[in-house]
Amino acid sequence: MQRPVFAANWKMNHGPSAARAFVAEFTAKWSPHADRTVLLFPPALSVSTVVEALSSRSDIGVGVQNIWTEDRGAFTGENSAPMARDAGARFVLVGHSERRHVFGETDEQAALKCAAAERSQLTPILCVGELLEQRQAGETESVVLRQLKAGLAKLSSAAIGSMAVAYEPVWAIGTGKTATPGDASVVHAEIRKALETRVGAAAGAIPILYGGSVSTGNAAALLAAKNVDGLLVGGASLKVDDWALICGT
Ligand code: PGA
Repeated sequence: MQRPVFAANWKMNHGPSAARAFVAEFTAKWSPHADRTVLLFPPALSVSTVVEALSSRSDIGVGVQNIWTEDRGAFTGENSAPMARDAGARFVLVGHSERRHVFGETDEQAALKCAAAERSQLTPILCVGELLEQRQAGETESVVLRQLKAGLAKLSSAAIGSMAVAYEPVWAIGTGKTATPGDASVVHAEIRKALETRVGAAAGAIPILYGGSVSTGNAAALLAAKNVDGLLVGGASLKVDDWALICGT
């Protein structure tokens, strides 16, 4: 993945019609840039539409926001990694804080989902981040490193070398509060160190994205922070103009 990486997490927004309109407007405004990676994570029902709408734009990647741990079977309502791949997705968010804290997903499930992604040649972006009370209790580093270590447990070194990690402090997501670039940099450095322990020098090439209330106003300062290699953007990625500005940071 060419850094910096700009990833749009649309969450449960933009069904197929809105997604098609977004892509038409965005691709009219955003020309291919070889010096960065732009990724869209639409809701699963919109993935095929987005892939089709981007057929002439191989510079923009598409991913799913979640997968189930198994490849097929009796899991009503879930989507598997092979299905995501078949629909044209090449990336997957794993362990997003809303999956962990709204849907009760565990570290073990995040690990199984990363493994499922590798089986189907999807590139995982493993999301980690602490709750406000954990930050206040001085537990940021231990929580983030526990989530990271657990999430990577079932991946090969080759898969880790080509994946990405996103640090998203839970208290900063959708709240308008962001970590300062300095705060983000400290945690990102810890993540980089832990990745080095696992895969050695290859860790230097793994993009570590920051996410949590990223906006057109703070994107440049966050991206300038050491070890911040990209941005995972929720709310501000839903508007074409803001998203194009952020991608141009
Ligand atoms: P936000 O969401 O930018 O709306 O805070 C980020 C995310 O949850 O990935």
